[in-house]
Amino acid sequence: MIKLTDIAYVRSGVADLDAATRFAAEIVGLELAAPTEAGVSHLRADHRHHCLALVEGPSGVISSGFTVAGSGALAAAETELERSGIAVRRGSAAQARSRRAREFIAFDDPFGNRIELVSQQESTSRPVAFTRPAGITEFGHLCLDAPDVHEAHRFWSTHFNARVSDWIGDSACLMRIDPVHHKLAVFRGDEPGVCHMNFQVACIDDVFRNWNFLIEHGAEIEMGPGRHPQSTAIFLYFLGPEGFTYEYSFGVRRIEDDAAWVPRTFDPNEAGSIDMWLGPVRRVSSQAQLRPDAAARREPGRAQPGTAQSGTAQPGTAQPGTAQPGTAQPGTAQPGRAGRKPARVGGPAS
Ligand SMILES: [Fe+2]
Repeated sequence: MIKLTDIAYVRSGVADLDAATRFAAEIVGLELAAPTEAGVSHLRADHRHHCLALVEGPSGVISSGFTVAGSGALAAAETELERSGIAVRRGSAAQARSRRAREFIAFDDPFGNRIELVSQQESTSRPVAFTRPAGITEFGHLCLDAPDVHEAHRFWSTHFNARVSDWIGDSACLMRIDPVHHKLAVFRGDEPGVCHMNFQVACIDDVFRNWNFLIEHGAEIEMGPGRHPQSTAIFLYFLGPEGFTYEYSFGVRRIEDDAAWVPRTFDPNEAGSIDMWLGPVRRVSSQAQLRPDAAARREPGRAQPGTAQSGTAQPGTAQPGTAQPGTAQPGTAQPGRAGRKPARVGGPAS
């Protein structure tokens, strides 16, 4: 059993780095770390050096990162995954540096979501210099897409310490790796991708202040403000550039008595099962997982655009069975939710 100690980051490829960075800083409110690497913006929300890396290149999710306890735990995880028949790649020193981790491994979940486990993610001690007062307190959770959330749960609970906190029928599995109700969620979607990235805010007023701010600045509200009955969190989902959905939320449930918690199942067709306040409910946009060989083009130490070779044995290269961006079809409408939009997938890296 591999123990995930926390969520680490989302790494997302963007065709327009300036626009995506501006949105993450000036609209979402994150701190933009001093640039140290051409073509990469590191955004900070809490003690982590960054939790969102925007990488100039083809548009789409590059990877989702989780921390493990250290070098020994990472090596043990590598062995355990390989024994289970999962292809694992070690990141290069330059790739680890870009992630502000000492070392990392990469692999795909059964649906083609690229997952990275990192050892020694860098912390920054000085207070976060938020670009605007959105009230963000921390990177709260990340949500992946998978066509079968039960299969996804089997993967995360068999190989990792993820435990289901609640089910939303066949539409979502909300999982915890610590007392927070969910730090990892999987939503049903036809293609691998990141459904949304969550930031916790300090109070309910922040949620509503942000709502007004977002409307005033022309951001597309995807859902909310509302309240999820599972986590009790008051939520607000909004769309960033290149199909990337952000969420602010406040008041997530903590499950302190782990052994006593019994996961519940909510019918997504039942009124109030997504939003207790009965607001309009829709399936928020997902950003598709980038085809790994495309993601690799702009990784440090990798071949430059146009020279990447599929099948190269490096993190970020193609694995069999990985869904190919560009072939994604708009998802089937989920019960009670609007059909998902296909994530925009950029052309060849510039
Ligand atoms: Fe969420």
